[in-house]
Amino acid sequence: MAEDARVSVRRVLLVCLGNICRSPLAEAVARKRLAEAGLDVAVASCGTGGWHASEGADTRMIAAARAAGYDLSIHRARQLRERDFADYDLLLAMDSDNLRGLRKLAATQEEAERAALFLEWTGAAPPVEFPDPWYGDAAGFSAAVKLAERGVAGLVERLRDTNR
Ligand code: 4NP
Repeated sequence: MAEDARVSVRRVLLVCLGNICRSPLAEAVARKRLAEAGLDVAVASCGTGGWHASEGADTRMIAAARAAGYDLSIHRARQLRERDFADYDLLLAMDSDNLRGLRKLAATQEEAERAALFLEWTGAAPPVEFPDPWYGDAAGFSAAVKLAERGVAGLVERLRDTNR
C-alpha cells in the first residue's frame, strides 16, 4: 500500500532510532506544513529503540528546530509498538536500520508493506537515508532541519495526490 498512490493516508507515523532527533523534527515540520496545506492527516513519531522513552527531544535538535520556526519543546519520546501498525496507515522510517526494525515488528505482509523509507516515499533523489545528527556537531542538526523540510515538502505533495 505504501507504494500505491491512490490509497488514502490519514495517519502517518515517522520512525527513527531514539525518537529524540530525526523523527520528532520531521513530525513538527510535517504537522506545520500539512496544516498549512489544509490536509487532514494526523502525524506522530516514535523510535525503534526504547532507551530514551519519556525523555524530551535532544536539546541540540530543539535549538536547531526552533531557529527554523518549529517547536519540539513538548515532545516526549516513545518506543514503536505492534499496535502502531493498526493505528497508522503509513509508517515512514528515517533510515534502512529503522525500516528493518519496523518490518521485524510487522505481523503480516500487508503491515510490512505499509512501512517505507521517509525520503524514498516522499520522492527525494538518492541517497534516501536520513543521517543521524546525534553523533555530530551543530551543523549536522541544521542540515537535518533542511532535510526534514525537503522530505516533508514531498510528503505534502504526495498526500495531496493520495488523499484527493
Ligand atoms: P534519532 O537519534 O534516532 O534521530 O532520535 C538518536 C538518538 C539517540 C541514540 C541514537 C540515535 N542513542 O543511541 O541513544
